[in-house]
Amino acid sequence: MDQPDFLKFPKDFLWGVSTAAYQIEGAAHDGGRGPSSWDAFVTKPDRVSNGDTGDVACDHYHRYREDIALMKGLGIDAYRFSFSWSRVQPGGSGPINPAGLDFYDRLVDGLLDAGITARPTLFHWDTPLELEDAGGWLNRDTAERFGDYAQIVGSHFSDRIPRWITINEPVALTMLGYGAGIHAPGLALGFDALPAAHNLLLAHGLGVQALRSAGATNIGIANNHALTWPASEEEADVQAVGLYDNIANWIFADPILTGSYPDAVAPFLPPIPDGDLATISAPLDWYGINSYNPSCVGAPTSEGAALVDGHSLDSTLPFSMREIVGYPRTDFDWPVVPAAFTQLLLTFKKRYGKKLPPLYITENGAAFNDGPDADGRIHDQRRIDYTAGHLHALQAAMDAGVDVRGYFHWSLMDNFEWAAGYSQRFGLVHIDYETQKRTAKDSYYWYRDLIRTSKLAT
Ligand code: NOJ
Repeated sequence: MDQPDFLKFPKDFLWGVSTAAYQIEGAAHDGGRGPSSWDAFVTKPDRVSNGDTGDVACDHYHRYREDIALMKGLGIDAYRFSFSWSRVQPGGSGPINPAGLDFYDRLVDGLLDAGITARPTLFHWDTPLELEDAGGWLNRDTAERFGDYAQIVGSHFSDRIPRWITINEPVALTMLGYGAGIHAPGLALGFDALPAAHNLLLAHGLGVQALRSAGATNIGIANNHALTWPASEEEADVQAVGLYDNIANWIFADPILTGSYPDAVAPFLPPIPDGDLATISAPLDWYGINSYNPSCVGAPTSEGAALVDGHSLDSTLPFSMREIVGYPRTDFDWPVVPAAFTQLLLTFKKRYGKKLPPLYITENGAAFNDGPDADGRIHDQRRIDYTAGHLHALQAAMDAGVDVRGYFHWSLMDNFEWAAGYSQRFGLVHIDYETQKRTAKDSYYWYRDLIRTSKLAT
């Protein structure tokens, strides 16, 4: 692929990388951290590839200085990481763990010293186990506890951190964790999972309130969105897409951006107490989109439905996932369709109009599992091509008037990819899990040069 022309990215466009606590920190039983839903889930047989766990992961808890140096070398403006709730507050309510706050103090101060802004996520799926055992996100009380936790973290850090993300991908936690049982807590409740969506959205709203009262001035959310294609123009397929799209995309964005749920999902939600939607739709300073690839959906088939990554879902669902053919695929078997990224962003602009705050791309990236070559380097040209393609697509959306202020690549380094364990590598930096040796891949140097050029470009 030709070197892309990045000159059209605005001078103050923000470049970053993303990670999440359970995926990189390790030290799962150190420093006073309490157990989370993922610590319990990984011990269940056959849930995670190869029986992998996040016990050690990238050992970032001990090696964060080296990781900050890698980020500094990359030249990023901002680093998106997540706080581990059970490291800060081991039971999810009650006493705070000072060693947990100390770790994040060292991390945030190290970032500031390196000239990198912290843009943390308060919660990236690792629910404190005590709360999970009390019903987790099916229990409204978890949202209230999250508000308290947001207050604790916000008041401790808002002097050094202006920009915050409440929750990562409530859609994935609801559908994969409670709907399909592929992620923690491993419940396969189908549509009965949807009350978790409401409680997560309420937690987001309570988190916004708590952060603002703690002095945070700039708040968003990071949600996963995928453009959804119908398998055909047949009526049955088009109808199936309508429902799926509401459950996968709009149930999570509409209440935040418009203050109401899509009509199609109302039958699956519990009665909504007065005031909840006002809390959920408190104005945000920006909205974060995580996006990797489009989805294709059709009417149910006799073989049943596959939700993601080949996992089978209840075949009574009124839709089924279909293979997208005719495009390159990542090593995770996800289709690579940059044009769908442009379309997704244009869909947001059209759907929400003036109600849409500025956007950030809070995650985009690809699993390509290249390891070191004979020369010791990692030639991950496919990651470079994927990223360049998606940045062109992003630029096309911006040219068409979508207000996007920055891009965070997923991920800084290879890490624990949830149910896929360590089998899928998303990093700009390669991790040798035997030795914890970090090696910058070709894509790291490419992204570094892009960031430099973009900054010089105007
Ligand atoms: C979404 C999640 O936020 C992140 O944790 C995950 O690793 C990436 N997508 C890739 O699947």
